[in-house]
Amino acid sequence: MTDIFQIHDTNIFHKRFALSTKYIPENLIARDQQIDDIVNLVRPVLSQGEPKNAMIFGKTGTGKTVVVKYVLTKLNDKMKSEHLNISSVFINCRAVNTTTRIIFEILDVVAPDIKFQRGGLPISEYYNLLWKELNQKQLSIIIVFDEIDHLKDYNILYNLSRAGENHNINIENSIGVIGISNDLFFGEKIEPRIVSSLGCRDFIFPPYDATQLIKILNDRAKIAFQNDVLDDAVIPVCAAYSAQEHGDARKALMILENAGEVAERKKEKKVLEYHVKEGYEMLNIDCLLEMVKTLPLQSKVILYSIIKLIQNKGRITTGEVENKYKEVGSVISCRILGRTSISKLIAELEMIGLINANIEYRGRYGKTRLISSCKESEKIMSILLTDPWFSNIKDHMTSTNLFNFSHKP
Ligand SMILES: Nc1ncnc2c1ncn2[C@@H]1O[C@H](COP(=O)(O)OP(=O)(O)OP(=O)(O)O)[C@@H](O)[C@H]1O
Ligand SMILES: [Mg+2]
Repeated sequence: MTDIFQIHDTNIFHKRFALSTKYIPENLIARDQQIDDIVNLVRPVLSQGEPKNAMIFGKTGTGKTVVVKYVLTKLNDKMKSEHLNISSVFINCRAVNTTTRIIFEILDVVAPDIKFQRGGLPISEYYNLLWKELNQKQLSIIIVFDEIDHLKDYNILYNLSRAGENHNINIENSIGVIGISNDLFFGEKIEPRIVSSLGCRDFIFPPYDATQLIKILNDRAKIAFQNDVLDDAVIPVCAAYSAQEHGDARKALMILENAGEVAERKKEKKVLEYHVKEGYEMLNIDCLLEMVKTLPLQSKVILYSIIKLIQNKGRITTGEVENKYKEVGSVISCRILGRTSISKLIAELEMIGLINANIEYRGRYGKTRLISSCKESEKIMSILLTDPWFSNIKDHMTSTNLFNFSHKP
């Protein structure tokens, strides 16, 4: 039988998982100060004191998640070896964002042995169960809310951080709350009462420079790749691409992984500089396509209209887009926006980099925006058509009767 996974006779990767964001490295580069800061927040709990609450800010890929996870792992090791009554819970608020689900997550760590009804009870009952379990087990707990902006209800931050003051938990137990966000203005979005309950010490993680990124990549590459498969230029070039864009370590690692993948697909024995370039372009396309999925419906309809028009005609005006948009909008039965809003959305699509447009001056007829191209239009089109709102359009393409569309999703 042929081995369908046997796509090459060279081997580029060794332990590829070391490039994933789930991997917590042994050594964190250039984050001693930040590790210290977080250890200092948590330290009081080791002597039955109250841990400090804090917010951690920093742009994407600056190591916020990995540094906090690293400290919690070390805390767990200490807790086990010294039999301390301390636990920690790490909540990714993008995945778990309702108050009840968060309390369930905490209960699963605090009291994995108990059975309780998951749902249908008032939230206060779940809080009471949590206080009871913490008191019974005489447990202190550090709770991390990663990507905290995604929380549905910020009151949970108040209730947890004020649990001691409100006499819900005993004096010898305590709860520490650490929030992580890449929005420096997060504090302005929530009630001052909640901000002050967090007592907020703020820490800001700075972006990495190229030298730091090189060190991060070198450490991972040793584990992730086979010996001697990376050309000397590969890591510095990955780091340089990423340093250009605010020093994002995640992006640097993704470029490196893509470069390896390109080399593997080309059945090369080594990863070379030009594989990095292709890997970088691949990443940009992936980001672009990811962005299309999350566009609001109106922008999707405009983008669809632009692609359709460009397929037939090289350069198009905003007036033509507007007409096509109205036609498509009525086919899928969505709300139709006015000219100003349409222009704004077209400008946004240009800003994101999905379309290219130029202003053309037409003498006494004024100026007009001419849209000349749309990147990756075929791939974008196939993503747009996966939106349930576009199911009528798919019928439209197979139907001869232009206006024979009945259902909305
Ligand atoms: N100092 C470091 N040393 C080694 N690896 C690092 C370091 N900082 C970040 N990384 C790695 O870079 C990737 C991104 O880091 P992380 O997920 O912590 O970023 P983040 O600041 O939480 O970003 P986001 O705001 O997008 O969630 C991870 O794979 C992480 O292991
Ligand atoms: Mg993170």
